[in-house]
Amino acid sequence: MRPVRVGLLGIGTVGGGTFTVLQRNQEEIRRRAGRGIEITMVADLNTERAKAVVGDAAKVVADAREVIASPDVDVVVELIGGYGIAKALVLEAIAAGKHVVTANKALLAVHGTEIFAAAREKGVMVAFEAAVAGGIPIIKALREGLTANQIQWVAGIINGTTNFILSEMRDKGLDFDVVLKEAQRLGYAEADPTFDIEGVDAAHKATIMSAIAFGVPVQFDKAHVEGITKLSATDIKYAEQLGYRIKLLGIARRQAEGIELRTHPTLVPMRRLIANVEGAMNAVMVQGDAVGTTMYYGKGAGSEPTASAVVADLVDIARQVQAPAASRVPALAFQPDALSSLPI
Ligand code: HSE
Repeated sequence: MRPVRVGLLGIGTVGGGTFTVLQRNQEEIRRRAGRGIEITMVADLNTERAKAVVGDAAKVVADAREVIASPDVDVVVELIGGYGIAKALVLEAIAAGKHVVTANKALLAVHGTEIFAAAREKGVMVAFEAAVAGGIPIIKALREGLTANQIQWVAGIINGTTNFILSEMRDKGLDFDVVLKEAQRLGYAEADPTFDIEGVDAAHKATIMSAIAFGVPVQFDKAHVEGITKLSATDIKYAEQLGYRIKLLGIARRQAEGIELRTHPTLVPMRRLIANVEGAMNAVMVQGDAVGTTMYYGKGAGSEPTASAVVADLVDIARQVQAPAASRVPALAFQPDALSSLPI
């Protein structure tokens, strides 16, 4: 069987990691997917940087639309980010009958309903494990592993930058601004760190998890969003004295009147496992009626951790691509025509 052919849009940190992981683990991946997975084309405005990463292994172009239109590409991996050009390119890829893998939480949280509807109409898959909590397979856990459960709540540290900032402010008594610069230097923060520190990035991820956990549409505009910019080292110190850690949590909870969706700094008792998640690490807790409480921990950002999720989605697509669309695992864990009437 011929390999699944992949076109990358953007070969920065995550794209480079995806290329490396696919190369290094190609034998295992081929066995698990039942066929090979090869990057055949890469689009990046910085063609020199892209060539330095892929060498002769893939064709490098500057124009993403060349990748989308290419007959040598079955799956388009969008790693550009943001709502602008990324949205247009994802919709164009779907319209061209290509499956899509994306790490773009902002795009899905805000335009997910439109994107998933377009994909369903066209019979292609949109996979997004890398969009939430990087290398932690929380999408597959919610959608597949916990599918027997009525989920009661999901709560997580799903932004590494802010968790790093809060940890450093506490441990070293440093000011917010100093630690933010360090987080940027280490490559945790978004290009515009406002999304991290104002809670928007975590809220995007919580919105995506709520859609999967509760079968509601993706509705970022209904989320309560509050970041960590108003917190001082003194708040953190007083919380410690009372036996609490301050964590920025993204929370989605089933209530009698609907789904509560909120992201804000939260006082977490120190004895809880999640209170002890430090630095740029992520952790997500899920409470299901059958399973009880489960917790998932790992790296929420970075080159190979995020690539791990991108490649897992490519393997999923390679496995499912020959199945009829109706028998595939639905992107959001539910069929949109059977949408729960739970309000949000
Ligand atoms: N800026 C994000 C974070 C990157 O700090 O978690 C991963 O989405």
